[in-house]
Amino acid sequence: MLTAEQIRSFETDGFLVLEGFVPTERCERLRTHTEGLLRRIDPAESTTVFTTGGTQNRDDYFLESGDRIRFFWEAEALDGEGNLTRPKELAVNKLGHAMHDLDPEFESFSRQEGLAEVAHDIGLAEPLIVQSMYIFKQPGIGGEVALHNDHSFLWTEPMSTYGMWFALEDATTENGCLWALPGGHKLPQRARFRRVPGGGTALEEWGDPYPTDGLVPLEVPAGTLVLLDGMLPHGSEPNRSERSRHAYTLHLIDAGSEWPADNWLQRPPEFPFRGFRP
Ligand code: FE2
Repeated sequence: MLTAEQIRSFETDGFLVLEGFVPTERCERLRTHTEGLLRRIDPAESTTVFTTGGTQNRDDYFLESGDRIRFFWEAEALDGEGNLTRPKELAVNKLGHAMHDLDPEFESFSRQEGLAEVAHDIGLAEPLIVQSMYIFKQPGIGGEVALHNDHSFLWTEPMSTYGMWFALEDATTENGCLWALPGGHKLPQRARFRRVPGGGTALEEWGDPYPTDGLVPLEVPAGTLVLLDGMLPHGSEPNRSERSRHAYTLHLIDAGSEWPADNWLQRPPEFPFRGFRP
């Protein structure tokens, strides 16, 4: 699926941009389907917001979402009492984290033609999809995502974490596109997010912060697939524009690696991680 040059580029930079991977009609179909899901959510279900930065002590609503489909609000969409200040469809930060196994439309998108081959090409002998997220990056209030690598949050021994990031809408510096540090996947690991005894989670950090010099914006049209090495530092700025920046992401690990019991995301034995084959 990938050329030798693309694989070399991925290994050098820690990311690879594949424009036109998904037909735009398919992106539109997923957006329309997701609009339907948003219409059916009950805002009374939760006041949990998703923000990054700080110690990131997540609540049970978040920690129980590894085998469900739950929604998380944008911080700026709630007032001091936890009431929505805008229509729910324009207030959700993201959906997660098991759409790829629970929702037929997401399942078929996540297991579309070509992805298993791409996963194989970037080095996954036996890929498992551990999580899916639909990220809205809402107009005006889409929250910043602090510079991080995905392995900190989805740890494996040895490191075998990779991301697939699908632009469902055009992503630009105006509406909060991804930024990445080319080659930064070769820097040492400097953080780990995990469950802590007694409940909740914490982000432990050590060593030097990632350098921000050299970060590049990944401005991409809808239909682009961005592959991300689990060690690659990346993030995104707030969206202060009038345009949303919807994206769908999958995170993969290799079945041959160990998934620690204190990773935040856990599945019950009867609902294990699966790969790309039905
Ligand atoms: Fe990430």
